[in-house]
Amino acid sequence: MQRTKVKDLLQGAEVDQEVLLKGWVRTKRGNKFVNFIAVNDGSTINNLQVVAEAEKFSEETLKDVTTGAAIAVTGKLVASQGKGQAYEIQATNIEVLGKADPETYPLQKKAHSLEFLREIAHLRFRTNTFGAVFRVRNALSFAVHKFFNEKGFVYMHTPIITASDAEGAGEMFRVTTLDLDNLPRTEEGHINFEEDFFGRSTNLTVSGQMEGEVAAMAFSDIYTFGPTFRAENSNTTRHLAEFWMIEPEMAFYDLKMNADLAEEFIKYIIRYALENNREDLEFLAQRQAEEDKSKPQTERQEMTLIEKLESVVNNEFERITYTEAIDILLNSNHYKKKKFQYDVKWGIDLQSEHERYLVEKHFKKPVIVTDYPKDIKAFYMRMNDDGKTVAAMDILAPGIGEIVGGSQREERMDLLVERMKAVGINPEDMWWFLDTRRFGGCPHAGFGLGFERVVQFVTGMGNIRDVIPFPRTPQSAEF
Ligand code: 4AD
Ligand code: MG
Repeated sequence: MQRTKVKDLLQGAEVDQEVLLKGWVRTKRGNKFVNFIAVNDGSTINNLQVVAEAEKFSEETLKDVTTGAAIAVTGKLVASQGKGQAYEIQATNIEVLGKADPETYPLQKKAHSLEFLREIAHLRFRTNTFGAVFRVRNALSFAVHKFFNEKGFVYMHTPIITASDAEGAGEMFRVTTLDLDNLPRTEEGHINFEEDFFGRSTNLTVSGQMEGEVAAMAFSDIYTFGPTFRAENSNTTRHLAEFWMIEPEMAFYDLKMNADLAEEFIKYIIRYALENNREDLEFLAQRQAEEDKSKPQTERQEMTLIEKLESVVNNEFERITYTEAIDILLNSNHYKKKKFQYDVKWGIDLQSEHERYLVEKHFKKPVIVTDYPKDIKAFYMRMNDDGKTVAAMDILAPGIGEIVGGSQREERMDLLVERMKAVGINPEDMWWFLDTRRFGGCPHAGFGLGFERVVQFVTGMGNIRDVIPFPRTPQSAEF
């Protein structure tokens, strides 16, 4: 017999028919005569209740039906008499496919802390919270492809191993096959990377943008969606050493078109989750509301998770320049009362406290900040006519801070080479990148959306480690 998933069974199409269900036991309760077994197979947040009359089953079988065990159930799907579910299965046969010893199975009925669940990341998918988070993550990732596909963008697989440092940030993981105990040296005593696998020094990529720009000069509109690596030692709730980034790159776009696309894109994927993952989001909203109760009044959310997402989808993002952002901060009571830890003046890199003030206190919605000082941004951003700022844009989201970083690119060869030299990049090393300016270069723009940050925003999860299946952070790469 064909197995039916819980999600489909709960829609009732097979009512009064014999069905086969396979999944994991969440709970078992009951009495001498009847057992109620809640089964979940990950297809939905909801469990399906299996009713097993004690007389129909051996004590042996029922003994092994414990929380965490994998079981196969055959029986009739019927309208439920009990509260809490529309349908249930009257079991005629139960097979225990895999036992889960109740003495040692770590997930018990009580609520576990997120910290504890992080230590058993291989089992946490079996909880309601992580089931919901990763189904939402899946939906968002599908929506990313759907959005760009509908717009005729080409999905480019850019390399993970790279010899260039796109962001010029110098926070990369080295890739090597050299024997670390016996490193080959040059005559000057440096490590001789000519003997390394690629004949040169290589790293894990911090961005697919360079290759994306090259591809956009042929396909007009492309996007990447892949893993990205940063060896920055930031132990925060918003940083991972391995994260996923979506990087669209568009020929013939200027900064405003870039910002318009980013806003449309973010709204599209959130709307997709609202329409397709309602139950998961409602559960997560409830979870956040519970969590809020233990927080001081000032840190609580003003809106429920669903209200927040609907408000983002239905309202325009605020758009301001960096210079306007600095003015808002300088004129704020927060600044006047010396409540910012970091100083505010034109030229600073906005700190997270500044970004949060702008989005959470001042505008109370996502904000697109444009035209940053050139000295705090990457070399490839297009110089504005003032000679001081570049055509950059960051999108800041309430509760998260920066979720998007992007810019119009410097398409003018002389200015680009000048900027490269100023930040210590040898233009010859980037000959292939510069070729796009040499041969048929054109105005173009793009951005990078941090996928985990957007998943955090949509699920309301406070820690980025809880929205990626197996987080990689400083001192931590278990699983
Ligand atoms: O602002 P970033 O560094 O921009 C770039 O990498 C550009 N090449 C993008 C482009 O224009 N094509 O990173 C983009 C986004 C950030 O806004 C943030 O959301 C996310 O990537 N991000 C991280 N997410 C998790 N952990 C980290 N360590 C992150 N660093 C950046
Ligand atoms: Mg950035």
